[in-house]
Amino acid sequence: MLAAKQASDEGLRLFEELKKELAAHETAEERFFYVPLFEHDSTVDASRHAIAEHHEMDEMVEDIEKLDPHAAEWMEGLRKLCEKVEHHLKEEEDKFFPQAGEVLTEEQKETLAGEYQQEHAALRAREVEAG
Ligand SMILES: [Fe+2]
Repeated sequence: MLAAKQASDEGLRLFEELKKELAAHETAEERFFYVPLFEHDSTVDASRHAIAEHHEMDEMVEDIEKLDPHAAEWMEGLRKLCEKVEHHLKEEEDKFFPQAGEVLTEEQKETLAGEYQQEHAALRAREVEAG
């Protein structure tokens, strides 16, 4: 019983952290990476695909929130979300970042990376304030 409770507390903490991190990642990345990539024909599909995945992950988070954290479905939902996040990050790293590398100038890369980091930090700080 105690082990199960600890496991679910741990799962809840992980979920809350993942939820906040995803929200900041998605907004900052859409503002300072994918929107600029829509300017280029060769990166439209990548941008569309990644933003659709952001939305899918948001829906997975919403579905998990409707479940009882002590139910097996809740843990299964979290496991699936983690798999999806892993797939998403790998695809961005292996496919979309190299594609972006071909259309963005060095100056744009530097500026956008800085803006992303600033926005991400600001969004996370706002969440800490909000609790
Ligand atoms: Fe992303």
